[in-house]
Amino acid sequence: MGGQPLYLEPRLKSRLRSLLHSPELLHTLTDALGSPLNVVVPDQLADNLDQFRSVYGAHHLSGQVFLAHKANRSAALLRRLAATDAGVDVASLEELQHALGAGLTPDRITATGPKNPEFLWLAARTSVTVSLDSRGELEQLATLVRKHALPRTRILLRLSGFEASGVRVLSRRSRFGTAVRESDALLETVERHGDVVDLVGVAYHLDTTSLTEKATALESCLRVLEECRSRGLRPRAVDIGGGFGVNYLADGGQWERYTTELTQAVLGTRPPLTYGGHGYGLRNEAGTLRGTLGLYPAHRPVAGARYLDELLSHPAASLDGRPLAALLLEHLYDLHTEPGRALLDQCGLTLTKVLEVRDQEAGGPLLVRLAAKADDVALEEHGVLMDPLVVPRDLTSTDTGTGPGTATGTGPGTATGTDAETEPVAVHLFGSRCLEADLITRRTVFLPRRPEPGDLLAFVNTAGYCMDFHATRAQHQPVARKVAAWQEGDTWRWCLDDQYWPTTPVGGAQ
Ligand SMILES: Cc1ncc(COP(=O)(O)O)c(C=O)c1O
Repeated sequence: MGGQPLYLEPRLKSRLRSLLHSPELLHTLTDALGSPLNVVVPDQLADNLDQFRSVYGAHHLSGQVFLAHKANRSAALLRRLAATDAGVDVASLEELQHALGAGLTPDRITATGPKNPEFLWLAARTSVTVSLDSRGELEQLATLVRKHALPRTRILLRLSGFEASGVRVLSRRSRFGTAVRESDALLETVERHGDVVDLVGVAYHLDTTSLTEKATALESCLRVLEECRSRGLRPRAVDIGGGFGVNYLADGGQWERYTTELTQAVLGTRPPLTYGGHGYGLRNEAGTLRGTLGLYPAHRPVAGARYLDELLSHPAASLDGRPLAALLLEHLYDLHTEPGRALLDQCGLTLTKVLEVRDQEAGGPLLVRLAAKADDVALEEHGVLMDPLVVPRDLTSTDTGTGPGTATGTGPGTATGTDAETEPVAVHLFGSRCLEADLITRRTVFLPRRPEPGDLLAFVNTAGYCMDFHATRAQHQPVARKVAAWQEGDTWRWCLDDQYWPTTPVGGAQ
């Protein structure tokens, strides 16, 4: 292998690290339940929730944290959530049914996203709060409530198209939500249907990492709430959606180095770093670098609850630079959040079995075929570049430890064994579909040792969107099974995902 390996070691917290230190269990599970196999760790969700709650506490704010259900289909995660005091954001009829069945009461559910009449009906019937995207949707709900004599429905108005005082900026176009400049007409419609809808407040969800963009949106929402009050409406909350992000990588230096080398590879000043010279959005135009890097910022120290903290601490332009949290407090508004990815940080991993390891005649990266399709491990789909960890089949020949710096980690290996076994290797990871494009990742991945058929590659931190959001049954291949795992003392226990209830673990979820 030419040059230094370019590792992108995953950030691992203690639960996933401990699970990876149980290779026999991981092999037993995949032997019994097949590859790929998703493992979720519901107790981590409760810990992540505590972190969000402590940010609310630090800013003296009340309100609810709603898990964005779409990020993972798991029953176990939802039931574990039901055992906390958090809520859930559902974006389809089926997610709503799932949430109700998991024990989440309607006061802890918000219905968002595109809605068909059945979804709207069940939400209104069960007194779930409905986040409305448009005036048309509001009219539709009001008609439905009257026609079916449903209870007066609590609503949020989702807004978009925000502008920073006078300047037409910041928030990108969205097909969701009503443009904030059209909020007058929207509020008139709310007033007209006041007998069947109760305005709880306004909402936004912006798919951006930009704090300023979100701060602008929040201030703008607060101005609309003032307008509501001046009309005699009684709004009490602002829902700032999700998008708090995850820090996937352990080492910022590795990320910097990787992206720099990728740039050089695109320019042709170093050997390629991807299959077929893919540039992840970058291209070489006559020696000049063009395009934009279309990758998730995988090393992201300010993510999750910390990102919320920074947003709430962000100076509000309309408050002489005092923090946004003060603006919320001053008006006694509840703050609602809908984290998906961030609340599922470190909540699961995807195990895939190595089927074939092939040397290329002309040299270059090994071709490694996995018993999984690209859509079973959708890290690449989300632009997240992160190394898998090798969990060797033969537990006697190597150190079975996992994590950076150990045999099965991605860092410089410390395994015993022959040089061929312990030398870092460059690999291309292929899926099991008969398509040239079925690459688990287009990136050349560096592993601390040559994998063998029968070994597992563990893709960690896949619970947010990367586990089941994109999974298909293409070629009649099954979608991955899912298990829930939890710790009893030093021992890991598990059950099938749909068998998990908060009473399942001895001692139960608190
Ligand atoms: C309305 C809404 N809320 C919350 C989320 C969750 O976003 P994230 O997983 O980035 O936190 C989404 C994601 O699409 C969304 O559309």
